[in-house]
Amino acid sequence: MPETTATSKVSRGLDGVAVGETRIGKSESIGTLIYRGYEISDLVEHSTFEETAFLVLNERLPNRKELQEFSTQLRLRSKVPQNVYAIVKELNPNAHPMDVLRTAVSSLGATELDLSPKEQQLSLIAKMPVLVANCYRISSGKEPIHPDSNLDTAENLLYMIKGKRPSQIEAWALERELIMYVEHDFNASSFTVRVIASTLADVYAACTGGVAALKGPLHGGANEAAIEMLLKMENPTKGVAMLSEMLAKGQKVMGFGHRVYKEFDPRAQLSKKILKQLITETSNSSTLYDLADAVEKKMWELKKIPANLDYYAAPVFYTLGIPVKMYTPLFAASRIVGWVSHFNEQNKDNKLIRPDAIYVGPNNLKYIAIGQR
Ligand code: COA
Repeated sequence: MPETTATSKVSRGLDGVAVGETRIGKSESIGTLIYRGYEISDLVEHSTFEETAFLVLNERLPNRKELQEFSTQLRLRSKVPQNVYAIVKELNPNAHPMDVLRTAVSSLGATELDLSPKEQQLSLIAKMPVLVANCYRISSGKEPIHPDSNLDTAENLLYMIKGKRPSQIEAWALERELIMYVEHDFNASSFTVRVIASTLADVYAACTGGVAALKGPLHGGANEAAIEMLLKMENPTKGVAMLSEMLAKGQKVMGFGHRVYKEFDPRAQLSKKILKQLITETSNSSTLYDLADAVEKKMWELKKIPANLDYYAAPVFYTLGIPVKMYTPLFAASRIVGWVSHFNEQNKDNKLIRPDAIYVGPNNLKYIAIGQR
């Protein structure tokens, strides 16, 4: 049951409150997720990131020609203006790549002034993966690189981050994770995008807000927090003991729990299978998988709280050799599709999002001049 305050009128964190209708995606507590009517498991098994992006943006699957045109349109717009790189190069080299990315998205909005709203959206979707990879490169003292036009989004991300073309299994694994990160109805960052869109601000403004909301460890930042925890745990025996200690101290365990999913997160289960396959084909140690599995089972035994997507996406990224600070930006490289779809849906039938609040502060105070306080 959603928690309410003493006044019984407020649901903290809008828990259980429907604040709008959507045709984009739907998640349910029993562990189901659909994008535009298609089960996530079906898309992860059969689709590609770019095809799923077309589906989420356009409400239907593309035919071959449409998909090719969409991919071409993205490739044609992937070049990031030099002044955006110049701006982010001025930032503190210790800044987290999510902060660099937030600044980059904002500066792009102050650069691409002459584009139509439709062009702005395509530009942002096309450039986001490039910004993600290059914001990391810049914050680690490397020069930005341009994507290879022969590679798709997942291949290019790995190519730009690691500097070499990925193997088939590596690209396959990352692409499955990207598909699962595309959309999740009224999650915190997409809702932020909708709030900003409802003021009739532009798509760059809305998505800058999306990046900002995604950064926190209760949302997108959880994948980085989850791998840091798993790496400290080292092996299943130590992991289970550390988990019990954390719970005994009342600490939150990152990568577990979800506002919607109370039984299981379907994406976590799909991601767990991807991790298994990736490790089987590319690594000579299954310790990370065994550890994650043991901690997941113990968490369920002790608290009946399921693992979420971030918990299993993180070890997939780790096995792919992706630097930890890139995990949340990678989420953004995919979720941009969901954000733009929510931006459009909000604009289609807009009403300013401006909720009520129950005032519980003091009343009738008399102003006292500053010298007399
Ligand atoms: N570790 C330990 N306990 C957890 C927990 C976790 N990861 N997630 C939830 N709980 C417990 C809470 O302590 C609370 O217990 P209580 O009722 O005894 O106080 C109960 O479960 C409900 O949790 P609450 O935080 O109120 O649920 P929520 O719907 O507001 O929060 C999250 C959902 C995602 C914010 C929360 O589960 C969390 O913080 N998870 C860790 C961060 C994370 O992985 N985020 C990514 C989400 S995809």
